[in-house]
Amino acid sequence: MIVWTVANQKGGVGKTTTTVTLGGLLAERSERVLLVDTDPHASLTYYFGIDSEQLEMSVFDLFIKGKNVKKEEIIQMLCPSTIEGLDILPATMALATLDRTLGSKTGMGLILKNALEVLSDEYDYAIIDCPPVLGVLMVNALAASSRILVPVQTEFLALKGLERMLRTMELMQSSQSKAYRYTIVPTMYDKRTKASLEAYHRLREMYGDRVWTSVIPVDTKFRDASLAQQPPSTYAPKSRGVFAYSTLLTYLQQKR
Ligand SMILES: Nc1ncnc2c1ncn2[C@@H]1O[C@H](COP(=O)(O)OP(=O)(O)OP(=O)(O)O)[C@@H](O)[C@H]1O
Ligand SMILES: [Mg+2]
Repeated sequence: MIVWTVANQKGGVGKTTTTVTLGGLLAERSERVLLVDTDPHASLTYYFGIDSEQLEMSVFDLFIKGKNVKKEEIIQMLCPSTIEGLDILPATMALATLDRTLGSKTGMGLILKNALEVLSDEYDYAIIDCPPVLGVLMVNALAASSRILVPVQTEFLALKGLERMLRTMELMQSSQSKAYRYTIVPTMYDKRTKASLEAYHRLREMYGDRVWTSVIPVDTKFRDASLAQQPPSTYAPKSRGVFAYSTLLTYLQQKR
């Protein structure tokens, strides 16, 4: 199983949209996909029409069960989606308490990695959607994945946040003795504005080939898809936004 994490401490940059769209596209390419929602706000969970407040189990229970969790127990936590081959490990509000209750306990950073290893025969890909917060959940997500996708809004202020995010990742990298591979994904690119163009050039200048060679355009279909509670790849398969994510997916699959 290949595990990707979608992370950026900045809110509203397209993390959940990236996770959902890539997940939908992977399922279309006949891959078995698990999407993991680690955001207490449960946006990804709601995206699939799953009412987080009604759930009896969620990713939170992984942290309660700890390292010796059994495969059957994890399978009970999963929700199917309306798309064949695409399942969700949902989030609940309870996740918001994790940092306070378990954050400082040792061994808590590898809970998600361990759980995904237990499930590794069941799926070809897992994509983890992170909350815009650096805490025990993001630490878990980073440790579990082989590649990190960092969506960055193509505007000047977003670049500042990116520097901070990458520095944090480097710090964590030294504590986990693991080199993260990451791909910066420019999002919400508006070709009519100078700010978008400049931000994109600046990204390329600063981060070189760690920046994806293309961009995700601004596309209102993404918001419409989330309102319709359908992945963009199903809701608007011919939209330019979905086309851009499809190009990104091919790029990532070649990189591995
Ligand atoms: N390329 C895009 N063009 C236009 N709107 C977009 C695009 N990508 C995402 N959006 C919209 O922007 C909003 C924020 O996107 P999203 O929820 O994916 O961000 P996020 O990084 O997950 O946010 P949070 O940090 O709150 O979890 C949503 O309403 C989404 O539909
Ligand atoms: Mg989100």
